[in-house]
Formats: sequence, C-alpha cells, structure tokens
Amino acid sequence: MSEVSCKDRFDFMNQDELKQAVARAAIDHLVDGAVVGVGSGSTVALFIRELGQIRNRFKGAVSSSELSTRLLREEGIDVLPLEAVGSIPVYVDGADEIDPGLRMIKGGGGALTREKIIAAIAERFVCIVDQSKVVPVLGGFPLPVEIIPMAGRQLISAFGRLGAEARWRKGYFTDNGNPILDVHGLMIDDPVGLETELNQWPGVVTVGLFARRGADVALVSDPKGILTLTL
Ligand code: A5P
Repeated sequence: MSEVSCKDRFDFMNQDELKQAVARAAIDHLVDGAVVGVGSGSTVALFIRELGQIRNRFKGAVSSSELSTRLLREEGIDVLPLEAVGSIPVYVDGADEIDPGLRMIKGGGGALTREKIIAAIAERFVCIVDQSKVVPVLGGFPLPVEIIPMAGRQLISAFGRLGAEARWRKGYFTDNGNPILDVHGLMIDDPVGLETELNQWPGVVTVGLFARRGADVALVSDPKGILTLTL
C-alpha cells in the first residue's frame, strides 16, 4: 500500500453503520454516464440503495448475482447483460478478507464466479469493506470454492493434502447451480500462486481468491473515517 488518506471521523459507529458509510463513499468513485459493475453481499446491498439515489447519473448496471439484480431493479436501475456492454470503467464489490496487497477472499455470499468474471473485465475494482475485513495474511476466513459436484470427494482429499479441511456448504447452490466447498485452515502467504494452482484442479469452477486480479483501490471504513488504500 502506498497511499492512505482519511476523511470524516466516524466515532461510535457499529458495523452496519460502517458498512453504510463505505457504501456511500463508493459513489464518489463512479464514472458519470457509464455502466457500473455491481458485486454482491450486505455492503453492496447498501451501495445499491445509494446508487438508486443517483440512478440518472449512469447508464445502468451489470450485476454479479440474482440477488443484486433484484435489488438493482427495485431501485429502478437498468440491469444490462454483460454481453451487451462495451466497457465497465468501475466495478464495486465487498470482500470477506482483504490484505495489504489488495488481494481478497470473496464468495462468502456465494456469488464468486460472476463476481470474478465482471472483475476481470472492469477497468477499476473498488473494494468496499469495514475495518474487520482487513487482515495481514488471507486465510482466516474459509476460502469458498465453487465446484462441479462429482469432483467433491477428490477435491476434499486434495485440500486435505494441503493441510486444510474442505467442507460442503450445506444445502447451498450458487446462481449457476453448483455447490461450494468452504476450505478451512489455509494460511495463504502466496495468494497468486495458490489461486493459479487451484485454478488447475479438475472440477474447480471458481476459487474465491481474487489475487491475480485484486482490487485497485480499497475503501475501508473504521471509526476514524474512510481510509483509501491503493498499491
Ligand atoms: C459474495 O459472494 C461475496 O463475495 C461478498 O462480496 C463478500 O462476501 C462480502 O460480503 P459482505 O459485504 O456481506 O460482508
């Protein structure tokens, strides 16, 4: 991280209020007249409400989940198919963990695959988190991995050989109809290397490590205000 700036003091805020503050701060990072990429999760849900207030300032949104699509439509925002969109100057999304290199674990809400597709296309990834998500090393939060069901047993064994424990996310299927393994006990000191390796494993659809394409900027709300972290 090379830049840390801070504005507005938020003393005595709880986590929901911190999420609300960072959701509002993301509005300053949008490009007027353009399509905005929209992630998923509880922080993004608050961001979508903020977007609704300024819906005439942009062309529409590309959405990373069925839930975000519904919330966007409730705000009267056009949801455009990714295939119909020329460029996405800014993608705004939350994270389950983010490290000082702006690499993230995502997928706690299950939308990792579509999030990763949109993040790959977006020119700028703006990550919005409260302070609890910032960690020195990724891996405290179990790593979500979307998989093809028939590969489950082999993948659980393969994670076991890495010293980790992969557990089925019970009763859960993604918007793409696939199950998720949540992988506990990984100390991710080489996020790019691990993401690259896991991407090769047969049966893995998407790894919830966003390291090869991390965030460009992280807005972090803490009681001192909004911190802006860049590389
Ligand atoms: C959704 O699949 C996730 O990647 C979310 O972006 C992430 O889990 C953060 O969600 P919250 O804002 O709810 O913590």
